[in-house]
Amino acid sequence: MWEEQKMRQWLQQHLPAGRYAHCEGTAETAVALAARVGVDKYKAHLAGLLHDAAKSLSLAEMRHYAEGEPLLDTMLWNSRNLLHAPASSGLCRRLFAVDDEGILAAIRWHTTGRVGMTLLERIVFLADAMEPTRNYRGVEEIRKAAQDSIESGMLASYRETFCFLLESGQPIHPAGIVARNAILEELRPTKGEPLP
Ligand SMILES: [Fe+2]
Ligand SMILES: [Fe+2]
Repeated sequence: MWEEQKMRQWLQQHLPAGRYAHCEGTAETAVALAARVGVDKYKAHLAGLLHDAAKSLSLAEMRHYAEGEPLLDTMLWNSRNLLHAPASSGLCRRLFAVDDEGILAAIRWHTTGRVGMTLLERIVFLADAMEPTRNYRGVEEIRKAAQDSIESGMLASYRETFCFLLESGQPIHPAGIVARNAILEELRPTKGEPLP
């Protein structure tokens, strides 16, 4: 794997300053969350720092790096907003030579989430949504919910994201819907019982 300093330099050269600051913020918040739940802080730091590595690439460049990453569908393949996650994971694997599958998966799934997310994946998902430079409607609710648990914070984040997508007439990727349902089920007091 590249030296961290070299990866930081690459990020600074390939991301606008605000996006780079968001990556630093995500790394910092991911470390704080990792400390809370006993996850490896360095992995959380690295996954947070690198999660948006491909964010500013063109669609063609994203497709190049995303090739071979798990579960790509037409909707992902045609959206820079969605494709940047598998593209960032592919870029970290192929360019930076990151070989930790846990870190790569946390990067891969940071936009939609997935059913059965690891703690590291959950941490990066939530840190991305609520790191200190984030400043969108509803972010305070996410930060507040995250004080209860990572899963509560994630649910709040899904709520804000889905509301935004519905209100702005955009599609919702099905992976996000099933991932959110899975977290909702985990938090349900009568887990496994029939729904109302
Ligand atoms: Fe992202
Ligand atoms: Fe991000």
